Amino acid sequence: MMVFRFSIVGLLASLFLFACQQPNSSDDIGIRPFQEKHRPQFHFSPPTQWMNDPNGMVYWNGEYHLFYQHFPDSNVWGPMHWGHAKSEDLIYWEHQEIALFPDSLGYIFSGSVVADIQNTSGLGIDNQTPLVAIFSYHHPEREAQGTTDYQSQGLAFSIDEGKTWSKYPRNPVLLSPGVRDFRDPKVFWYEPSNTWIMSLAVLDKISFYSSPNLIDWSHLSDFSVEWANFEGVWECPDLFPLTAPDGSEKWVLLVSINPGGPLGGSATQYFIGDFNGKEFTVLSNRVLWLDHGTDNYAGVTWSNIPAEDGRTIFIGWMSNWEYAQVVPTTAWRSAMTLPRSLSLFGNGESLRLASFPIEEIHKLKGTPISAQGNSFPLQSDILHLSLLPKQEDFSIEWSNSAGNVLRVYRDGDKIAIDRSLSGITDFNNLFSKTQSMDLEGLNVEKMDVFLDKASIELFINDGQRAMTAIFFPDSTWSHFKCQGVELPVKGNYFRSIW
Ligand code: FRU
Repeated sequence: MMVFRFSIVGLLASLFLFACQQPNSSDDIGIRPFQEKHRPQFHFSPPTQWMNDPNGMVYWNGEYHLFYQHFPDSNVWGPMHWGHAKSEDLIYWEHQEIALFPDSLGYIFSGSVVADIQNTSGLGIDNQTPLVAIFSYHHPEREAQGTTDYQSQGLAFSIDEGKTWSKYPRNPVLLSPGVRDFRDPKVFWYEPSNTWIMSLAVLDKISFYSSPNLIDWSHLSDFSVEWANFEGVWECPDLFPLTAPDGSEKWVLLVSINPGGPLGGSATQYFIGDFNGKEFTVLSNRVLWLDHGTDNYAGVTWSNIPAEDGRTIFIGWMSNWEYAQVVPTTAWRSAMTLPRSLSLFGNGESLRLASFPIEEIHKLKGTPISAQGNSFPLQSDILHLSLLPKQEDFSIEWSNSAGNVLRVYRDGDKIAIDRSLSGITDFNNLFSKTQSMDLEGLNVEKMDVFLDKASIELFINDGQRAMTAIFFPDSTWSHFKCQGVELPVKGNYFRSIW
């Protein structure tokens, strides 16, 4: 998958596929943007064409910036740019001009943005704090020639609060030590040693580097443990501190992996441990997954969130490399998860990462869902439900006039999402497989469900478990049915952000 995706052959095949798909395959063409059939109504999606990983998320001067892997000329993966959007609340987004374009050093792969408040890089002018993007260059021709140094790290900077970007003239700033997969720098300021720290995915390990100025980098250490998941390439790392329930500080390392996820294709594993400014040491002792559904990948956290806010806010790409390029949308492809706040729960060996949508999402509350029974027609198909499961097994389902059904149910110690009859599924074999998550004894007290046009996000006990999956119904969900949950069903129809 990786090799195909990044090779010239892959690129040509993708372009061919695109050319073949354009003329007549869509209900989308000619429809007002953001009103297309499967267009998310309260999740971020690009105005047009292809999107994958979220990149460069930074909070600066009252605005949250979101950049993303983008190919503006096609609805499949290709020469990567950084698309850009900004928001004052992480809910309503304003689309911006493309921030970064490929250049002679290669495509612009994933990376991060930091606010260089002390101007350590010297890139700031006239007291303007530079926002500095640290990204991977990917050189497709050098890859095709079979070299091992076709990925390197580069910088770009903005001195107008993220509006326009210039590449650093002496790019690249960090060359590959001869490893083909050498990418996705995520950088943060580490106060105790007054340095920038970079986490970088290097094939099957995470390498840490440090720099006084974002320009000169020295290798610190490598992290890997033999029990981790190595069934795919390691990508998009993120290392950040969180406070454990006992008050101690722990460090969490996110590592996305593709393929080899537990449900097939892409998934994000995480490690809990300590970081001493040089090395990350793991305290957890088994593979842990950030999300137990098929569609939350390459997610990382916002940088520079003010201390008085204190949250660690994450967003992921709501798709899976198994089928991302063939899902049945044409005008655009893919969306992001809801922004989620991350926290730790449990203790000792059972310390775990929780993720739950940020509270700002409730700005979108529209009419409350009012229903007495366990089966009722829906006024809208974009909604939030907050359910109290009553007994061991429960089932909730949405259906429509086309005969499609999307079902979530509990069977013993497992919670499953069955999208096999949810509409268009035949574009990929994996897609119609039921996905289930093991509760491992977790007591299900509460379940929140966020349903958008083409996605479901399920959270148990305020995010102690999360499951994210996409689907493509033939028509709007018009009916809801449940059993095994407290009645009346509580929830709200949501407003669209467009
Ligand atoms: C993850 C990823 C990254 C890479 C980017 C390329 O989905 O493969 O490792 O930087 O996508 O678009």
